[in-house]
Amino acid sequence: MIVTIDGPAGAGKSSVSLKLAEALGYFFLDTGAMYRCVTLACLRAKIDLSDPQATLAIAKTCEIELSKGSVKLNQDDVTREIRNPTVAKSIKPIAENPHIRELMVQAQRNICQNRDCVTEGRDQGTVAFPDAQCKIFLTASPQERARRRYQQLLDSNIDADYDEILNLQNQRDENDSNRETGPLRAASDAIFVSTDGMSEEQVLAKLTQIVRSRIEQVAR
Ligand code: DC
Repeated sequence: MIVTIDGPAGAGKSSVSLKLAEALGYFFLDTGAMYRCVTLACLRAKIDLSDPQATLAIAKTCEIELSKGSVKLNQDDVTREIRNPTVAKSIKPIAENPHIRELMVQAQRNICQNRDCVTEGRDQGTVAFPDAQCKIFLTASPQERARRRYQQLLDSNIDADYDEILNLQNQRDENDSNRETGPLRAASDAIFVSTDGMSEEQVLAKLTQIVRSRIEQVAR
């Protein structure tokens, strides 16, 4: 079965999706990591990120390997480096390039062929896997998402400003929702889960219950 988990940044998708995949014994596909890898490869190549042909040419050279939370780009372990804020700041023209998105979606389908997967991103239930048997849209209010990010930074002893985080997050939501190709949107058959006020354990329990009941329904 393919389980798609889409939703905005900060809804808690990444860690809960990985744990859900582990609990189910499914492969975990972190599609954000793929866009981050292409961005990192473009930064390393020192090309103009606003040149769509140049970034596409680099994207075509990227061999991305994802395994149990670790990420390799052309055989180099980049698990930590792709989380670097420079990568996040540079990702927009890459994620908005329709040709790169097409390449990524094709790679995502290849990875999930003939295996059970939990795949996480923005366009998984709508574009990459419109026929997936279990689609979840995980969200939380903008304030709750910004509050969690603020707390994460404080916990890591990094100075943070809540209003700035909220503003940046609103901009990112708008970019993700309004781009022409693969916008952040819930599939019409997705189950909405709002994580406001829920702990990670509670979210995981809820998602596990949703998937298990879908597995039972499909088996009937
Ligand atoms: O989920 P994340 O923060 O690792 O995603 C990194 C960026 O990639 C984010 O700006 C949204 C974008 N993204 C996307 O456009 N489509 C996806 N399927 C996954 C991520």
